[in-house]
Amino acid sequence: MSAPPVRPYSGARVLLGVTGGIASYKAAWLARLLTKAGASVDVVMTPAATEFVGAITFEALTGRAVHTGLFHPGRALDHIKLAREATAIVIAPATADFIARAAAGQASDLLSACLLAATCPVLLVPAMNDHMWAHAQTQRNAAHLGELGYSVLQPDEGMLAAGEGSGPGRMPEPESIFAHVGRLLERPGALAGKRVLVTAGPTQEAVDPVRFISNHSSGKMGVAVAAAAWRRGAAVDLIAGPLSVAAPNGVTVHAVESTEDMAAAVQRLLPDSDVLVMAAAPADFRPAEPARSKIKKTNAPLTLTLAPTPDILQTTKQARRPGAVIVGFALETDDAVASGRKKLAAKDLDMIVVNDATEAGAGFGVDTNRVTLLSRTGGDEQLPLLPKTEVADAILDRVEKLIGGR
Ligand SMILES: Cc1cc2nc3c(=O)[nH]c(=O)nc-3n(C[C@H](O)[C@H](O)[C@H](O)COP(=O)(O)O)c2cc1C
Repeated sequence: MSAPPVRPYSGARVLLGVTGGIASYKAAWLARLLTKAGASVDVVMTPAATEFVGAITFEALTGRAVHTGLFHPGRALDHIKLAREATAIVIAPATADFIARAAAGQASDLLSACLLAATCPVLLVPAMNDHMWAHAQTQRNAAHLGELGYSVLQPDEGMLAAGEGSGPGRMPEPESIFAHVGRLLERPGALAGKRVLVTAGPTQEAVDPVRFISNHSSGKMGVAVAAAAWRRGAAVDLIAGPLSVAAPNGVTVHAVESTEDMAAAVQRLLPDSDVLVMAAAPADFRPAEPARSKIKKTNAPLTLTLAPTPDILQTTKQARRPGAVIVGFALETDDAVASGRKKLAAKDLDMIVVNDATEAGAGFGVDTNRVTLLSRTGGDEQLPLLPKTEVADAILDRVEKLIGGR
């Protein structure tokens, strides 16, 4: 069964400003990502930007007219209208020259005029030669824009234009900028400014130096929770077993291998966390005595003795900050809801997310999940089959309510 397409930004109106830098070719992909996510994207290009990429590319990708000049008969008030209608403005790439104009409050082209007329959140994504970025004037301009309330992304280090070597100045990849736009679009809620700790993925328990026991967890559910919490303005720590998917932008990743490592990381980070979401699938058993060298292949049957691993939620109970919201997951194959309810009480959780691994479209590896949310305070909720990104939002909506009530 397939889930409905995810269009998290439908209803948002994003003004994408493109200035005349070599990275402007990457802005086309950003326009595509935003449009695919459901946003209406109004592209405003500086005249210099049109020397690098054609307006027609953006028009075709967004399905909307592209704006390139301040003085167009019949569209005299575009700069006011575009600024007023924007839910968010992202300028990618932002040239040194544009950053200087914006910092000086100039309105000499359509894009800088829009910026002055806007009241919505703004994200600037500088991209330039490393010396241009390091120049004291550029640094001062960027810092001033930060003081004015704009979000200014730090450029990445990496290969610059052909023959220009590498250094800090490179535009972050469109996927990363897209994630930052999400943080801009999200309404500030109870998670803004909070510390959220999320665990994700399987663990690996060594059999010998080259073999391990693990499970089919991909980490997608935990990664979706971490990404959504970050978009909502939280500082996010992600304790990740070996993931099959990329870790999300903005979060601090703590890579672990075994359940014991994961328990130690939770123990260390939990005292500073306002929320813990245990979406990982740590192994419940490990080989009791992992071999020190590779076990040789023989024809004789091999018996492994397994020992239970620490129960992370139990062993870290005393590390919880008073008032912290604790969310567990229960992946079951029999009597899922009844087992979940037992776990909720036994592990002293605020909420448990129960899913049945035998159901089509739910559980490990897939992009969707069908879960039931059980809370200590009651109000159980059975959600339909949804993309994991939407399940993550449903979980965090509840977490925000719980935080709000404390
Ligand atoms: C080939 C080429 C590449 C350029 N790349 C950049 C760049 O990556 N970043 C930057 O700040 N300026 C870059 N410039 C300089 C800008 O295009 C120039 O400062 C221009 O006036 C910027 O105009 P705008 O800010 O209105 O778009 C480049 C110029 C050329 C000719």
